[in-house]
Parts: sequence; C-alpha cells; structure tokens
Amino acid sequence: MSDPVTLDRARIAELTAREAARLDERTKGSGALYERARRTLAAGVASSYQMRDPWPIYLDRGRGAFVWDVDGNRMVDFHNGFGSMVQGHAHPAITKAVAARMEFGTHFAAPTEDGVVVAEELKRRWNLPKWRYVNSGSEATMDAIRIARARTGRDTIVKIFGSYHGHHDYVMVSIGVPYGKIGDRDNLASLPYGAGIPQSVVNMTVPVPFNDAEAMRRRIERLIAEGRPPACVIMEPAMMNLGIVLPEPGYLEAVREITHKHGIVLIFDEVKTGLCIAAGGATERFGVRPDMVTLAKALGAGLPMGAIGGTEEVFEVVENGSVYQVGTFNGNPLGVAAARANLFEVMTPEAYAHLDALNDHMVRGCQAVIDKYNLPGYAIGVAAKGCVTFSPIKVVDYESFKQYQDGEVADLAWLYNLNRGVFMTPGREEEWTLSVQHTVEDCDLFINAFEHLARDLTS
Ligand SMILES: Cc1ncc(COP(=O)(O)O)c(C=O)c1O
Repeated sequence: MSDPVTLDRARIAELTAREAARLDERTKGSGALYERARRTLAAGVASSYQMRDPWPIYLDRGRGAFVWDVDGNRMVDFHNGFGSMVQGHAHPAITKAVAARMEFGTHFAAPTEDGVVVAEELKRRWNLPKWRYVNSGSEATMDAIRIARARTGRDTIVKIFGSYHGHHDYVMVSIGVPYGKIGDRDNLASLPYGAGIPQSVVNMTVPVPFNDAEAMRRRIERLIAEGRPPACVIMEPAMMNLGIVLPEPGYLEAVREITHKHGIVLIFDEVKTGLCIAAGGATERFGVRPDMVTLAKALGAGLPMGAIGGTEEVFEVVENGSVYQVGTFNGNPLGVAAARANLFEVMTPEAYAHLDALNDHMVRGCQAVIDKYNLPGYAIGVAAKGCVTFSPIKVVDYESFKQYQDGEVADLAWLYNLNRGVFMTPGREEEWTLSVQHTVEDCDLFINAFEHLARDLTS
C-alpha cells in the first residue's frame, strides 16, 4: 500500500466551517435553550464535559438505538451516555424492572436482596469474591484507592499517564497535558488536571506510560528506593480515553508480575471496559486478574450506580471496620434492580455475540473507507467499543496519541456525524459505544457518514 495522502489543512478548515454552520442551522432550539440555561446552570450544562461551543446539543428523548434532540433531529446514538447505555435506550427489561421497584419504595439506605444477587453475579463474572456499591465511577476509584492505601499502609499511587479515572483529587493528575509537558519517559510529570487540586495530593500520584512494563518497573523500583513505595497501580487494562489503545501482548501479565512482586494492589479501572467488552470485562477478555476492579457506567443501565470488587485480602480492611466504605445511596434499590435486570436479561451471551458481530462490521467498514481513500488512520474496536484513530502510526500510549493524532480531523468527523444523523461523543479522546439495540443498518449510517467525510477530504 502506498503512503497515506497528506491532508490539505485549508480544506479541513473550509469543511469545518461549512459543517459547523450547517449544525448551527439545524440546532437552533438547542441554541435558544442554551441562552435560557446559562442564566441558572453554570455554562448551561450539568457537567463541564457537556459544554460545547457555540452551544451544547440538548436532548429530548431516547428509544432503542435512537435519540432526538430538542429540535426534533433523530440520530442513531453511538455516544450512548459516555458508554453507559450499552443496553440502548428505554430497554423493555430495564424499564420493567425499574417501574416494578418504584412501586415498592426507592430508597432505604438498607441492603436489599437485589444487591446480593448482583454481587453474586459480579463475583461469577470477575472471579473476585467481595463487592461493594457506589454511585459513580469516580466514587469507585476513590474508594478503591483508599482501600489499597489502608491495605498496604502506603500513600503513593501509580497511574498511567493520560488515563482518566474520575473527578476526585487523587486521580485528576497527568491527563490532557500538551505534548511538550509530558516529561521524560522514565520520569513523567505529575501535573494537576484543572484548578483546585492541592499540589501535595498531585505529588502523591506518579504517572507511568501505558504499554511499557519496563518503564513501570523502573519507576516503581525508584519509588521504593526513595522510601515512597506505591499502594496501588490503578489503570485501564485497555485505554478508552485516547480513542482505544489495546494492551500489547504480555503487557498486562508483566504489570501483574511487577505489582505482585512489590506487594502493590493492582486496580483495573473497568468503568468503561466492564460489561462493554465482555461479560467479565477486560479481566475476562485479557485473562489477567487484578486485586481490585472498579465498575460504573454500563452497570446501572442508565441509573447512577457503581461497584468495587476485590480479593478477600484487600476487603479485609473494610470488613474489620478500619476503612469506612460508605454512602447514603450505595446499593440504592432502583440501581440494583436495574443492574440485576441488566446482568440477567440484557447483557447475556447472545448480547455479546451480537456486539462482537456489529463491531466487526463497523471496524471492517471503516477500515475499508480508510483503505479506499488512503487516509492516515486506522479502525480499531472490541465488542461494544471502537473508533477510527486519525494517526499515520499506531497509537500505543499518551505520548504517541498527542504526537500523532490529527485533532482537527477528529473534530471535523464529529460535525459530519451530527449532520448526518449520527450522535457521537464529543471530544478527540472518545470512541463509539454500540448497544444491543443497534442493527447493521444503524452501523451502515455511521460508515456512510465516514465515507462522506473521506471523499470530501480527498476531493
Ligand atoms: C475509566 C474511567 N474511570 C472512571 C470514570 C469516572 O466515572 P464517573 O464519570 O461515573 O464518575 C470514567 C468516566 O469517564 C472513566 O472513563
């Protein structure tokens, strides 16, 4: 195959202006709602990740594979609530379970049987014996880190540079950093992600590159020599916040060996991968068992719900009362009722077979477009998750992502999608999430929008 085409920057700018104007024209109702919203909601949104210039797209409803915005535009949903709605919208089994629970009371702050059944099923899927509930991915990673610290009596934590693990201080470190500030590979910089994070907390979080077990080994050995042995390594087993970066063969096994050797708790943050890439998440898919796992997003089937799983040894500090793993809404009856229906009636072996087949279709379809137009990029995916990475070479970590990803084309692709009935996650780091309610025709809409972009870019 010949070298990929060199994209014309002026053409990208021209197409971006055209598509942005088209989107503004189609979403005037969102524009009006934004003007109203910003008077009371800060920046007009509930979470800063929902902000967008010149205004966010306000949604009205969702059903099956579709969402409708307030202007009445119907779109196939590949955003799926930042990867939470792998069940699709208003799935009958979830709707029924939640409605039934509503009749019998929605909150007690006392455990219910559904919570026990869900824990038993999570134990089976992840092969980890003990579980607790939380209400979000951030709570899951925050509590998991505290448990790891208590278990080991150590303060320092190690994370992967560029990985997002939620919005609490421990992990809002070394994410979204410009290429020039990443630092030396053996001594990556600990930098706060946004204001308001104490420097003393930032200093306790030490980043290492993904897919480089030897760099992790060297950094951990240095930390031990400096008298700062890590309590845990927290990582996504497959990175899902740089598009998708899969672990290279042998990498996770090596991380397991290093952490085991130094008595470090290995936490797999499966907030994105869990339930989306296999019944037992990345832990099952890649066959490496961590000491702890964190889940959220797809677990609650649209309700705020998360879980932490772990070995008997790590959960000892919770069971003996030395760590307070607590929360008024932990194990909320609506959340565990939804999770129970989700695990037993929706995310079944057939559902995973369907997702695998659809993703295969998406990846092959997108790759065929890339090959036909000779674009610099590649398609990559696993079960419900996938993306096109606009980079001439394979991205393996944050550094290569920052160096090679063509952010302008990623932004343009988002506009092409929105204008062609494809609702996608905004942001250059995101990927598609398929749902069990998607069809091959829905996927073809995505592939066709992508082909339209490829044709316009190269014509
Ligand atoms: C890997 C990972 N961990 C944790 C979180 C935080 O989850 P939440 O937004 O539910 O707090 C996210 C959110 O995107 C995530 O992708």
